[in-house]
Amino acid sequence: MKINLSKKGIYSFFTNEFANLLDKLPLPPNHQFSQKRLSDFSTGRYCALRALEQLGIQDAIIPIGEDRAPIWPEGIVGSISHCDSLTGAIVAKSSDHISLGLDIEEIGRVTPDLWDLVFTENEKKYLSGLSDEDKLVQSTAIFSIKEAFYKFQHPLTKTFLDFLDVEVVFPDFIQVNVLVDSIDTNSVIRNNRVIFFSEMGCLIAVITNIT
Ligand SMILES: CC(C)(COP(=O)(O)OP(=O)(O)OC[C@H]1O[C@@H](n2cnc3c(N)ncnc32)[C@H](O)[C@@H]1OP(=O)(O)O)[C@@H](O)C(=O)NCCC(=O)NCCS
Repeated sequence: MKINLSKKGIYSFFTNEFANLLDKLPLPPNHQFSQKRLSDFSTGRYCALRALEQLGIQDAIIPIGEDRAPIWPEGIVGSISHCDSLTGAIVAKSSDHISLGLDIEEIGRVTPDLWDLVFTENEKKYLSGLSDEDKLVQSTAIFSIKEAFYKFQHPLTKTFLDFLDVEVVFPDFIQVNVLVDSIDTNSVIRNNRVIFFSEMGCLIAVITNIT
């Protein structure tokens, strides 16, 4: 399945099936990955390879970085995400995008008992005013945008940011604000942009730095 982000120079590949590349992948020696982790890892790398092929890159190797971030081929940025029903990857040339963040979530994952851990006061206030159905969708959306933002910003800043360190801009979810001084918010990450859509019952968030 291809999702059309290519007008923005972003190439993607998503699948709802397990792709077994385990005999070809750069797994760490003596890894202790569970079956689920192996399956996610393999399918995520498969999506990344299919997305890279759209940029003319064949048979790439995408090792696991120290911080678990994928190490993309020279001149490429990208991001991978898996949830139980869908896995995907997005890639672009680093001359077009400074970084990319992708997150896929099943709707309804962020139950109200998690709200204090993952949402700021403003976000909770916004969500509280919604109908029960909208709460389910929009709480998942905000959570997913924050996870995608983390994957966008981490390769650039090498900084850990907690869920309460960032806030989604309301009402149209077009950007993520960083609320803490631990990273330079005047740097390019301040110009982040959210692209958001749903596919096969999942919400998909993409963060980049272009409109
Ligand atoms: C890293 C994190 C965002 C991954 O999200 P997840 O929901 O557990 O899992 P997903 O399937 O969506 O994404 C996993 C993929 O993210 C990528 N990833 C992991 N760490 C990463 C990092 N530091 N930078 C960029 N990408 C990263 C990997 O490609 C990984 O898949 P792989 O191991 O098969 O290569 C999450 O585990 C985490 O640590 N979150 C806490 C920080 C946070 O989200 N803050 C929010 C406010 S900024």
